[in-house]
Amino acid sequence: MDQETSFDISGEFYNRALNSLAGGVNSNVRLTETPHPLFYERAEGSKITDVDGNTYIDYVLGQGPIIFGHSPKFILEAVAQASVSGQLFAGQHLLELEAAEAIKTLVPNAELVRFASSGTEAVEAAFRLARAYTNRNKIIKFEGQYHGWSDSVLFNTAALPGGTNSDGSIDPSPMTQGMAESAQTSLIILPWNDFEAVDSVFKQHSGEIAAVITEPIMCNTNCIMPKPGYLNHLKDSCDKNDSLLIFDEVITGFRVSAGGAQELFGITADLATFAKAAAGGYPVSILTGKREIMSMIGSGEVMHGGTLNANVMSMAATKAAMEHLSSTKIGTNQKLKDLGQTLMDGLKEINSRLELGMLIQGPGSVFAVSFTDGKEVFDYRTHVENSKTDKYSTFVSKMMQKGIRINSRGIWFVSEMHSFKDIDETLTAASEVLESMAS
Ligand SMILES: Cc1ncc(COP(=O)(O)O)c(C=O)c1O
Repeated sequence: MDQETSFDISGEFYNRALNSLAGGVNSNVRLTETPHPLFYERAEGSKITDVDGNTYIDYVLGQGPIIFGHSPKFILEAVAQASVSGQLFAGQHLLELEAAEAIKTLVPNAELVRFASSGTEAVEAAFRLARAYTNRNKIIKFEGQYHGWSDSVLFNTAALPGGTNSDGSIDPSPMTQGMAESAQTSLIILPWNDFEAVDSVFKQHSGEIAAVITEPIMCNTNCIMPKPGYLNHLKDSCDKNDSLLIFDEVITGFRVSAGGAQELFGITADLATFAKAAAGGYPVSILTGKREIMSMIGSGEVMHGGTLNANVMSMAATKAAMEHLSSTKIGTNQKLKDLGQTLMDGLKEINSRLELGMLIQGPGSVFAVSFTDGKEVFDYRTHVENSKTDKYSTFVSKMMQKGIRINSRGIWFVSEMHSFKDIDETLTAASEVLESMAS
């Protein structure tokens, strides 16, 4: 699409939306789209088309859920077929049982399962359960990781790095106004990939820490990989201190491997949260965990509810997604990895040819691109200090002009419906854009 791209109709809709939707959008993340939030009218496979008729190869993919491509036939059919018999029973139905059984076969710690609708809710449930099970209050979370928008965890996610204390912890910094004052006293914020900070804080707060929550790959900050042994260190520290390890697999789940990061790294977390890729775009989140812990929900000691939990459409989509992932003949996860790796290798080649200092890293099925001095980063503050966000924004808008839709926050998702031709076209566009930026 190398044309003078027009976003005029989207612009008109957006101006109209400002009169009926707060900020013209329904998730603040969407405000970052350039030149302004766009309106889309259809999406199929690897492509998405906006209301101005511009079609893009899509690497935003609904911020992650679309691992089977847009409008996957097998999911649409499963949902259509199931929903004619009803949508919500406020009682049990077979599909939720079958979906849970399918998850148990894929996810290492899924001795028991609970469904909800958003990742934020699953994380809330995990926190409540961890506090109840351990009878403790404090939770360790890491700077630069995002676990949803609730008051209990929306700290040090996208803020400037906070001050560091003698025990290695970081001053809590809320991401928004309006948070409950008490929220931050329950959290300990640490830099990620720092072994000593974990040791020091466990020592200082002996007997107080209910859980450690971590993205097993720091997808929300430049797809930083864990240092060798780091996740094991978290697991051992939790085990030694009778604290729980929570893997937040909302991005990594079903994407980096059918069994998520637990399978990829061979580490079984006490609790894990999933959402995005669980149902190909339908609203589902999942809490999985060890039977002994999850049973506290089952017994009613810990409250977990939700009117729309496990509705028929979402469960039909989840069951179909799990069956699809289980099929080795289809090989979804290998495909995602191969496509992503080819794209990463191509971008790396352009970067070294043009000496741009880009950093391209991640496991493949998801990865991140930023402009830095090219050195690998291991934590949030090094990333913030080194990253040239203005340059990346220019890259994003020039790529949009060429029909390649990428996320303004640096994260790239691939789906199994992307083709190697899509990857070639993307690399050609990236090469032209980056050459123009280099000169
Ligand atoms: C790692 C992680 N956890 C939790 C969430 C929250 O999920 P949701 O947006 O479905 O509430 C997100 C969302 O991006 C996420 O990336």
